[in-house]
Amino acid sequence: MQENELIIPKHVAIIMDGNGRWAKKKMMPRNYGHTQGSKNVEKICEIAYKMGIQYLTVYAFSTENWVRPKEEIDALMKLLGTYLETSIKTSTKNNMRVRIIGDTSKLSEDIKKSIVALEEASKNNTGLNFQVAINYGGRDELLRAAKALAMDVKANITEIDDIDETFFEKYLDTKGVPDPDLLIRTSGEQRLSNFLLWQLAYTEFYFPEVLWPDFDKKELIKAVEYYSSRTRKFGGLE
Ligand code: IPE
Ligand code: IPE
Ligand code: MG
Repeated sequence: MQENELIIPKHVAIIMDGNGRWAKKKMMPRNYGHTQGSKNVEKICEIAYKMGIQYLTVYAFSTENWVRPKEEIDALMKLLGTYLETSIKTSTKNNMRVRIIGDTSKLSEDIKKSIVALEEASKNNTGLNFQVAINYGGRDELLRAAKALAMDVKANITEIDDIDETFFEKYLDTKGVPDPDLLIRTSGEQRLSNFLLWQLAYTEFYFPEVLWPDFDKKELIKAVEYYSSRTRKFGGLE
């Protein structure tokens, strides 16, 4: 496919899977895979933006990932902390706006502070809109939204009759972000693992075999080519 035939999705969501298997293949510890995987994030942000993608959302840590061994969780949190800190500089350089989705209340004080600092420092940037899902679960997000909405109804801030899809979306972590057009899950797994359950209602899905640390520009172009070949119908006819 010629590059000018590509239809560029406005919003791409990625389940960055396969770090552990990538390391295992190299006879290295799983955490080495996470280190390489986190290095890949910044590269993909730059490539995506240059291709014309406006929104990118990545799954970094799920509400279910807490069941992993403590040593792996500690390593992942350390990587996330470093990533958030260095992103204050890189987001300025790349004009990128960063938002964290998920229940951040359960994260360490240091990470919470870095999140506030990064979101604040990047909020007026007009380049890529980058969402990072940390301690994120789709069901958890919907429950938190339902509870916040119930509180507003109880406090007479909201009328039950006002609640439609657009209104409900204001209670989600992704408030103001359009739904993903394309979802990519690397490593050949074909499941959502609790990612963006509401937002993926009409998203096109793409499941390449490549493991996340090896996902590069060539792979992103293949994903966009796949997307360009789909006919989206949204319940209508072609
Ligand atoms: C994805 O890689 C990163 C996180 C879930 C944090 P995995 O750690 O799930 O890698 P595999 O699936 O074991 O290969
Ligand atoms: C999903 O990957 C979560 C992230 C990529 C952060 P997992 O590797 O945790 O998902 P399962 O357990 O294979 O479904
Ligand atoms: Mg996995």
